Amino acid sequence: MRNRLVAGNWKMNGSLESVRALTRGILEGLDQVGDAGVAVCPPAIFIPEVAALTSGSALAVGGQNVCDQDSGAFTGEIAGSMLKEFGCRYAIVGHSERRNLYGETDDLVARRFVAARRNGLTPILCVGELLEEREAGDTEKVVARQLDAVLAVTGIEGFRDAVVAYEPVWAIGTGKTATPEQAQEVHAFIRNKLSEVDSTIADALTIQYGGSVKASNAEELFSMPDIDGGLIGGASLQADEFLAICRAAG
Ligand code: PGA
Repeated sequence: MRNRLVAGNWKMNGSLESVRALTRGILEGLDQVGDAGVAVCPPAIFIPEVAALTSGSALAVGGQNVCDQDSGAFTGEIAGSMLKEFGCRYAIVGHSERRNLYGETDDLVARRFVAARRNGLTPILCVGELLEEREAGDTEKVVARQLDAVLAVTGIEGFRDAVVAYEPVWAIGTGKTATPEQAQEVHAFIRNKLSEVDSTIADALTIQYGGSVKASNAEELFSMPDIDGGLIGGASLQADEFLAICRAAG
């Protein structure tokens, strides 16, 4: 059985007070979540606070990004060693907001992925197509290109115990979820593509779905054979809603 993981991506939301309340709220309901792993990725400045509150619990913490370099003159960036020092287990890389709003290329994302691994963090590699790419029939081509950029630097070994999140960009924050069948099709494509290189690594890979996951649609999505949990944006900002999604994966 593959590891399932539900991760909350809090993006640039919250205050010290709201982050404390949200973290405590999630901790309170965590014992009702089954076997699925649960993580939250707060804005970087709140990571020490969340890590302190969750220390010793089953709630893992992740960064929303990680620098491709380990130290030096890289204003605004955060090194993997820093995330690690403050208790992070995961680092999201290649989120579509980083790719599309901040111009991160496939190559940069691949280097960030490598930096996460180098620093003992589990990368959550986001891949996914824009609406116009889906409409042009290019979904698989785009996802393959994004995976190939990482494969080119890490080889298949990079995917051992890593996490991939399939997030169709048109479904992020739009309320438009991919149907379970649409998502499953791409998840199977990702697993099959990696399987051609190493089926053991591909079979064990946790592939999350992300894009307008809510408590009301999580169970259906997570029931698909290649969907191993979710990367949750908006719905991860409310403890009850997020916990209901976690229970759907558990
Ligand atoms: P959403 O975001 O759940 O708000 O659509 C998902 C994500 O960006 O990871």
